[in-house]
Amino acid sequence: MNLTGKIAIVTGAGQGIGKAIALRLADAGADVAIMDLNLASAEKVADEIENLGRKAIPIPTDVRYADDVNAAVDKVRTEFGRVDILVNNAGIAGRTLPLTELEESDWNSVIGVNLTGVFLCCKAVIDTMIAQDYGRIVNIASISGKEGNPTMIPYSVSKAGVICLTKALAKEVTDYNIRVNAVSPAVIETPIMEGMAQSTIDYMVGKIPLGRIGKPEEVAAVVNFLASDEVSFVTGQCYDVSGGRATY
Ligand SMILES: NC(=O)c1ccc[n+]([C@@H]2O[C@H](COP(=O)([O-])OP(=O)(O)OC[C@H]3O[C@@H](n4cnc5c(N)ncnc54)[C@H](O)[C@@H]3O)[C@@H](O)[C@H]2O)c1
Repeated sequence: MNLTGKIAIVTGAGQGIGKAIALRLADAGADVAIMDLNLASAEKVADEIENLGRKAIPIPTDVRYADDVNAAVDKVRTEFGRVDILVNNAGIAGRTLPLTELEESDWNSVIGVNLTGVFLCCKAVIDTMIAQDYGRIVNIASISGKEGNPTMIPYSVSKAGVICLTKALAKEVTDYNIRVNAVSPAVIETPIMEGMAQSTIDYMVGKIPLGRIGKPEEVAAVVNFLASDEVSFVTGQCYDVSGGRATY
């Protein structure tokens, strides 16, 4: 799972799972662009990566907007010359409420970051990956995208969309050495949980056979594999990192 010489983009890598992924890919040898809404946290992660002896560039980016995403990816191409790995990790949970209490704005904000953001980032790198005849895309979905979590309708739907985008795009680029896969974590200990209702968290943890919350590093380990050359005969798949929650 060595990534020496590879150039990776990780969105939402300023904290949580994205940070763990960025550090893991750098530890495996990749140089990393950290695209996050929050420049200060992206800069801190970039410093940690530089301390590992790799190159890192923090790029303030809002994945909801094509102009932002395209400018960020242009910067990566200019600084590093190529894009080998894209990890679409940026995501928000949105408000955890039943449908009766949700507003249209709840739907639009979650779909905008979690699904439109993945579409825009894939679109921004895919021509480069085709021209290189090399690419690894890893989309961070969620177990909720397979099973549908109550009080998380926009989130669950966005993640179901991410899984399907993964499968469809994977089949579009089979003529090239490009692999597109997804990861579906169950509850992972990160700041995203701070805004969630405790009852929603209890519901999710209660469904995990291993009986505990996961760690960001446990997601990053699977992403390292999916971002590597070793994934040569695997594409369009969704890997669960869910403590055994998924039954399919
Ligand atoms: N933590 C979990 O339990 C869990 C479970 C399943 C899936 N996931 C998914 O994993 C991913 C990371 O989650 P996390 O728990 O680390 O979240 P987090 O809230 O800790 O971190 C998310 C990061 O994304 C950034 N971000 C948010 N909106 C953005 C935007 N519009 N453009 C660019 N960056 C943006 C934030 O600044 C932050 O650094 C998300 O896609 C999430 O849906 C998390």
